[in-house]
Amino acid sequence: ELRGVVALDGPSGTGKSSAARGLAALLGARYLDTGAMYRAAALAVLRAGVDPHDPVAVTGTARRALLVQSTDPANSTTRLDGVDVGAEIRGPEVTLAVSPVSATAGVRELLVAEQRRIIAEAVEQAGGIVVEGRDIGTVVAPDAPLKVYLTADAEARARRRTKQDNDSGRATTVERTLADVTRRDDYDSTRQVSPLRPAADAVELDTTPLDLAGTLDALLAMVEERG
Ligand code: C5P
Repeated sequence: ELRGVVALDGPSGTGKSSAARGLAALLGARYLDTGAMYRAAALAVLRAGVDPHDPVAVTGTARRALLVQSTDPANSTTRLDGVDVGAEIRGPEVTLAVSPVSATAGVRELLVAEQRRIIAEAVEQAGGIVVEGRDIGTVVAPDAPLKVYLTADAEARARRRTKQDNDSGRATTVERTLADVTRRDDYDSTRQVSPLRPAADAVELDTTPLDLAGTLDALLAMVEERG
């Protein structure tokens, strides 16, 4: 059983989501997908017809949006204004708008506060939670007893993302996904607020040669050692 928080950070396509969800299920813990929250905020911005690069309008839209993120690893849903938007937030429009929206200081302030509230509630109710994102170890939960930073070759990440997209019925190619993954990583790593980087006390795990089972084995060993 897990006590407290496991912070799982890293760029996209490292197998972070599957690993975080799987680990939470194995440990009987909760699971929080913070990327889904930023994606839902980006969807709200697009629906409002607001320019994703306009911080004042973006922050206002995010404040008015009602975001509800569930923490059940078997059924992690994202609701925007009462409606399940799980499929829509994975689409290309949202994927394009999410970088500037998540780089908006006002949006981060809002969502980080909500993430901390969700984490505290989950720890109280279930004992532990696996939280995935970009800034969990550095900003959202700096006191987490276990922080893991997942990495993988850009090629491997693009291949994984493409398979995910194609499996979900979104047609794309490895070349296009590689370009998108690289663009988002550059944006996320170089932004002013909470850039993507490993916490000083994070354990790095390169998932390039690992499948999901191998990644889960490595994570379980870390939980046993540290948790
Ligand atoms: O993890 P996912 O690819 O769904 O995240 C989408 C985007 O949300 C990332 O590219 C990043 O810009 C943003 N994000 C963030 N901080 C987090 C989680 C996601 O800035 N904790």
